[in-house]
Amino acid sequence: MRGAEIVGIGSYLPERVLTNADLERMVDTSDEWIVTRTGIRERRIVADGEATSDLAARACETALVDAGIDRADVDLLVLATSSPDMIFPSTAALTQDKLGLDCAAFDAMAACTGFIYALYAAVTAVESGRAGTVLVVGADAFTRFVDFDDRSTCVLFGDGAGAVVVAASDTQGVLHVDLGADGAGAGILSIPAGGSAAPCTVERCERGEQYVRMSGNEVFKFVVRAIPETTRRALEASGLGVDDVRWIVPHQANQRILDTIADRLDVPHERVCSTIEKTGNTSTASIPLALDHLYTSGDLAPGDVVALVGFGAGLTWGTAVLRWTKEAP
Ligand code: UT7
Repeated sequence: MRGAEIVGIGSYLPERVLTNADLERMVDTSDEWIVTRTGIRERRIVADGEATSDLAARACETALVDAGIDRADVDLLVLATSSPDMIFPSTAALTQDKLGLDCAAFDAMAACTGFIYALYAAVTAVESGRAGTVLVVGADAFTRFVDFDDRSTCVLFGDGAGAVVVAASDTQGVLHVDLGADGAGAGILSIPAGGSAAPCTVERCERGEQYVRMSGNEVFKFVVRAIPETTRRALEASGLGVDDVRWIVPHQANQRILDTIADRLDVPHERVCSTIEKTGNTSTASIPLALDHLYTSGDLAPGDVVALVGFGAGLTWGTAVLRWTKEAP
């Protein structure tokens, strides 16, 4: 069977750093609370005039250089985001223009699981023979949808982008993708206003409904139940067990969640990749950012099995099992 593999990877973080000390000056919080409850020490914030498509384009540029492929060879761009530049046109189309690509482009929306859904679309297109080379990017300027007067959410999120180039291969670089969704859980994590159900009005905006709302505890409970299940399912479908995995790369939402996932899967905490300290929760960007961190740190070698694990609003979840094929840079 024709396979698909990751042949290039890149990421981008905006320049501005927002530390916990900065947040202490903005809301009633403390570095101690944020570090103990989340593991986050700092996050990056988009500049004025910078949008999700700008972050996406920067990450894609690096991934294309890493892949060493010509832009003309890209057949499709799939972009995952929770903070599109606007409702339409798609952020994928805006990114495609910024990159000067001549290819189809669409957005994949599954909140923080978006990168896994986008990867699934890319791998399916490549394995079926409908596309040869696909750019997959997770990009978020999610802080634009955060109320910086709400201490329960504003300490959690940051901005960034990560991209991979998926190309046809004789080997199976992506062994399996497990996806799931449960819309009955929509109410525990959402941006209530700004869509067709509740268009932005002055009243809604005065109530802050254009910003993210989250029942943190409910999300936490869902995540620690659903994530070990999807990870195990995806590994089993790949003919592998947890002990075969070199790295689990989960969505970076909370260090306590990463530790609980490690415990429930019975893997050493050191094998669960964590970058949350420096980035916070970057929504769709967090998994490719963490994967790129492992790659550029020289912590990924050909043959390594990697489980990328996403979860988020929807509710949605998903795991992609990779057999890494690239040499360290
Ligand atoms: O990417 C999407 C997926 N999202 C997630 O996976 C998030 C999952 N949830 C979480 O990570 C955690 O639930 C949070 C980090 C969001 C919250 O941690 P928690 O341990 O569940 O805290 P809590 O919401 O139960 O709040 C505990 C206390 C409350 O005070 P009282 O009622 O006990 O007096 C909050 O008001 O902490 C208070 N609190 C804060 N205190 C200082 C909430 N936010 C803050 C803050 N600084 N920033």
